[in-house]
Amino acid sequence: MKKIAVFASGRGSNAQKIITHFNQQAKATAKVVLIVSNKKQAPVLDLGRKYSISTLVLQRKTFYETEQLLQELTLFEIDFIALAGFLWFVPDYLTQAYRQRMVNIHPSLLPKYGGKGMYGSKVHEAVHANSDTETGMTIHYVNEAYDEGQIIFQARCAIEQQDTPTTIAKKVQRLEHEHFPKVIEQLLNS
Ligand code: GRF
Repeated sequence: MKKIAVFASGRGSNAQKIITHFNQQAKATAKVVLIVSNKKQAPVLDLGRKYSISTLVLQRKTFYETEQLLQELTLFEIDFIALAGFLWFVPDYLTQAYRQRMVNIHPSLLPKYGGKGMYGSKVHEAVHANSDTETGMTIHYVNEAYDEGQIIFQARCAIEQQDTPTTIAKKVQRLEHEHFPKVIEQLLNS
């Protein structure tokens, strides 16, 4: 059985979808065994209690100045990492250790609206301000640059004239929830 770690900084609605997709299968071929967050108060950590999954809270100094996290991930025998709204830049030691085994989800059609500072509502506000007629989500491998790793999967949705950043966000989130667990499963089985 493959073991997945989900890294998230916030609410964790994608984390929840991944957990229910894998951990509630009768004959699971993969399971989320660890939730990692950079925020002690992040709601995503509640999922650990709810689904009996171990959690780990990162300290900035340890994360960036040591490679201690790799030992923790080895201890949990983590095969695959899903970044689901994880807002810290991933240091090279982690990218290298999990090359082609760490993916990120981004709420736009990369390479549009990617890069440092482009996250959450900022993305949807920019899409709206530019009067784009479509948007979507991207799942990509994580490499050494923000949002620039090889694209694995994209899903699109149309933007209507009456859409606001809030309604655009909802459309994109629907796509994320629908596709992220399935794409992870395909990658794990390939
Ligand atoms: C998602 O929109 C994802 O694309 C981005 O962060 C958001 C996380 O949302 N990277 P949630 O915490 O999973 O609800």
